[in-house]
Amino acid sequence: MASGRTAVGQAHAKVIIVGEHAAVFGYPVLAAPLPALTVRTEAWPAEGPITLDCPLYAGPLAEAPGVFDGIKALVEAALAKLSRPDRDLELKVQSDVPIGRGLGSSAALAASLVQAIYRSCGAPLDRETLLRLVGVAESFAHGAASGVDAAAVVAEGMVSFRRGLAAVPLRPARPLHFVIADSGLPSETRGAVEGVRRRLVRDAEDTRTRLETLGRLAEGAQAAATQGDTGRLGQSMNDAQCELEALGVSLPALDRLVLAARNAGALGAKLTGGGRGGCVLALARDPGAAEHLARAMRAQGARATWLASFGGEEAA
Ligand code: MEV
Repeated sequence: MASGRTAVGQAHAKVIIVGEHAAVFGYPVLAAPLPALTVRTEAWPAEGPITLDCPLYAGPLAEAPGVFDGIKALVEAALAKLSRPDRDLELKVQSDVPIGRGLGSSAALAASLVQAIYRSCGAPLDRETLLRLVGVAESFAHGAASGVDAAAVVAEGMVSFRRGLAAVPLRPARPLHFVIADSGLPSETRGAVEGVRRRLVRDAEDTRTRLETLGRLAEGAQAAATQGDTGRLGQSMNDAQCELEALGVSLPALDRLVLAARNAGALGAKLTGGGRGGCVLALARDPGAAEHLARAMRAQGARATWLASFGGEEAA
């Protein structure tokens, strides 16, 4: 049971605004946290093997199913780095981030675990160590993860990111209002990333051109956001969706939600994250329009919708 010595770690969901998949190959990407959806981990000392209590599993960490292999490796790596034994710890996770919807649930879980473990040991945790440890778990979840999910789930606002570099905070010149709509279909990021890699072998020139285009669109989206040019930002999102469709990571259910958002007046709409399921992201003119887009996408089958605004005040 949690005691007075309980330490807490917290991270949140994320969205990729433009640049998913190209990010894996080192192209720029624009991403943002979703502070409304959080993962919170409590850690406290308790004699015996390490236990984990989370939405998908409760019991000894060593006996957790295969999907937890990354988490096992991460906990082991964190405790080794802290020179602590691999035992005598209880971990309890509460999460409202939907799992497997391209919203960064695995990175957010990993980040909250690392923070809770470090705090339970009273050890300082710098950003670089946090991201490196999250990367241990992400390499299991995503294979060739670029690191953008890890950076975004602990970011305080929109960030521009490039593989191997620190995320750069980006402040929009005017408020940006987004709607996130869940298709209800699981997004299999690892498979989608591998699919793009296979396409790169099969059809190298076309795939390379599309990844380059996505990188250019992400750069354009970053500039548009900082200049408050919502029209150009929306267009970058629409153009990115064309490239993602051509790369084979969209699905008819996602295309339908994208179309519903555009028909309802979205400035731009696209899938977000790994794709092949998961969520659609739409940019609205104002908060009222965002509510309207959410209703339109729910009418076309979205299981859940969330609103997120950036700029002026931070994400709400
Ligand atoms: C997943 O949110 C974004 C991808 O580009 C994978 C990655 O960059 O690690 C699909």
